[in-house]
Amino acid sequence: TDHVRYTDGVLTLDGLALDGLVADVGTPAYVYSLDVMAAAMERARAAFAPLGGQVSYSVKVNSNQAVLARMVRLGAGFDVVSGGELSRVLAVGGDPARTTFAGVGKTDEELALAVRHDVLVNIESADECEALNRVAAALGRRVRCGIRVNPGVTVDTLAPMQTGSAKAKFGLPATEARALLDACLAGRYPQLSLLGVHMHVGSQVPEPSGMVRAAEVLLDLLEYAQQRGLDEFRRFDLGGGFPIDYGGPAVPTVEEFAAALTPLLGGRRDLDVYLEPGRSIAGPAGVLVAQVLYRKHRPGQRMLVLDTGMHHLIRPALYRTDVHRILPVLAGPSAGPTVVVGPVCESTDTFAESAELPDLAPGDLVAFMDAGAYGMVMASHYNTNRKPPEIVVENGAARVARPREQWSSLFASERP
Ligand code: LLP
Repeated sequence: TDHVRYTDGVLTLDGLALDGLVADVGTPAYVYSLDVMAAAMERARAAFAPLGGQVSYSVKVNSNQAVLARMVRLGAGFDVVSGGELSRVLAVGGDPARTTFAGVGKTDEELALAVRHDVLVNIESADECEALNRVAAALGRRVRCGIRVNPGVTVDTLAPMQTGSAKAKFGLPATEARALLDACLAGRYPQLSLLGVHMHVGSQVPEPSGMVRAAEVLLDLLEYAQQRGLDEFRRFDLGGGFPIDYGGPAVPTVEEFAAALTPLLGGRRDLDVYLEPGRSIAGPAGVLVAQVLYRKHRPGQRMLVLDTGMHHLIRPALYRTDVHRILPVLAGPSAGPTVVVGPVCESTDTFAESAELPDLAPGDLVAFMDAGAYGMVMASHYNTNRKPPEIVVENGAARVARPREQWSSLFASERP
């Protein structure tokens, strides 16, 4: 991630010093490079172009309107998982015809929004088929659908991110997916046009073989459908999951994933390949800049208390790993391992047990790397804290894409 680097001892993003970038809005603040996100999108497209792959952006990772607007200008499709995300995409002029809707628990209200805008719905259960058929019938519409398949493949990522294993709540096992296809062919769901299969084996997938095994399961199903005369059943959505380098062990590139899938999917003119990456598009593009509030000590350990915590970046607390590298905004020699914590009244509000940081003092700035994905979108108002502002950098210029919240607005809609 060379768009975030030290220049004359100051940490910069796209060449702009981070201390200057947050000077007006203060800390904590998220800062994203939209150009880096766009470049990652183009890279995924280029990697999968030989397979005819079309790339959607997974909105859940970073749904700021400025980010989505950039994706619209790139001509990207969108992967949404809620009526709220779909509303964001529609508001920014995203193409509903290239938007897909995933999720195990879609409500009637959400399904109706999707049907009205001709969004493709990836179905995850037989009950959902019934609900979608009923909602579409009430609106007098047909709806394009895919079947989210649970391939029964466990990839070696953090347990909470394994979404393709047999025990996961996601998708339908292949046998049930077949039964659903049969029911559809028998005319049980007259409003649904089944157009293909969908999967997502997990996130931060450490190597391609699990994705390949899962794709084999999906390909079987696709052939089953085509043999039964469903000629238009040709969508093959591989999901997302491409890993990024958080500073741990090396991870495979998106090109390596494409290469691993080529023996299976290369030259298959009978299918349309789709992807929906999120983390690999937005993650490395963003940082969270925070300030040291206080120095403390544990027996034998230095500790820094920051003005940001699990309410702004929950991943370290949620997954119990030191997942985000923390860099000082002004470079300096390491003063040894440091415990880094946030202000929230929970012991899990700890970012790192042993970060290598200089001897920082109150007012000094630090930056969390790779915070462009699953950062702000997972922020909460816990302890009635405000969410941070979001600054975007585009073409060398910075602007505030979302201001800091007001305390009063956090409870303005409540009725005493
Ligand atoms: N498609 C589907 C159906 C998904 O469930 C996900 C992520 C994606 C695409 C995008 O996956 P990506 O390319 O970003 O790996 N909150 C966790 C990650 C949860 C991922 C959920 N699904 C984190 O902070 O790491």
